[in-house]
Amino acid sequence: MNQPNAKSYEISEAVDRLPSITSLYRDVFASPPWNEAYRCTTCEKSFGKDVGSDYNCCGNPVVDYYPLEETTGRILEQLTRTKARIALATNDASTEKIVGFSWGWEDSLKDKHADHFSFSSDEALMIRDMLGLFDQDTFFYLSELGLHESQRGKGLGKKLYETVLEARDRMTSAAILMRTTKKSPAFSIATRNPLFPLKVVHEFRDDLDRVVLYS
Ligand SMILES: CC(C)(COP(=O)(O)OP(=O)(O)OC[C@H]1O[C@@H](n2cnc3c(N)ncnc32)[C@H](O)[C@@H]1OP(=O)(O)O)[C@@H](O)C(=O)NCCC(=O)NCCS
Ligand SMILES: [Zn+2]
Repeated sequence: MNQPNAKSYEISEAVDRLPSITSLYRDVFASPPWNEAYRCTTCEKSFGKDVGSDYNCCGNPVVDYYPLEETTGRILEQLTRTKARIALATNDASTEKIVGFSWGWEDSLKDKHADHFSFSSDEALMIRDMLGLFDQDTFFYLSELGLHESQRGKGLGKKLYETVLEARDRMTSAAILMRTTKKSPAFSIATRNPLFPLKVVHEFRDDLDRVVLYS
């Protein structure tokens, strides 16, 4: 069997494989450290796969954290944004089973765009001012980076990071913006990468240690 590898795909090819990408996305975030398989609609607490779909919280059954149809729609919407790029990792050249993903698009920190990044409008404007950016200044927003649990810890995340960033369109802007948490390996991938090193430009100081990285 061949080693898993990462390469960039045309958006149309990725859209053809949307069901596999969505299913992997749900699986990646349902696993540790996120454990976002289910959530309680009352207290908004999240639960891992182990609790099962008939688990009750606050007197009600939990619901899917990333409902299939809604998540498929959201991923499709993101992949069709301006200058979107995607890299996928497959486990072996013959079966091409998708085991990892990374994607992003070109964006700016306009007030109305805040929801693209799950920043509040105030945060988006604050980060924009801190970086000295104007409404028209664009960057590649690296939105997602994920690998099936079984494929982690062998450098494939780093490869996905580099592959999607190599594929981005540098005609208009070379800048890269990413949001992650200090605890994630994504943080060490991005801040220690020899090709595309990012710097911490903002710390949210919440219990997840969320940070904004920029180059
Ligand atoms: C983020 C993710 C794709 C990283 O993939 P990976 O292939 O395991 O990472 P790599 O093997 O390329 O390791 C990258 C770096 O993180 C380090 N690392 C690996 N596991 C780590 C861990 N549990 N905690 C902290 N650092 C870790 C590695 O030492 C490596 O650093 P180095 O290159 O300086 O030695 C993977 O962990 C994942 O899918 N996590 C769940 C989804 C997620 O959190 N995505 C990011 C959300 S912003
Ligand atoms: Zn609850």
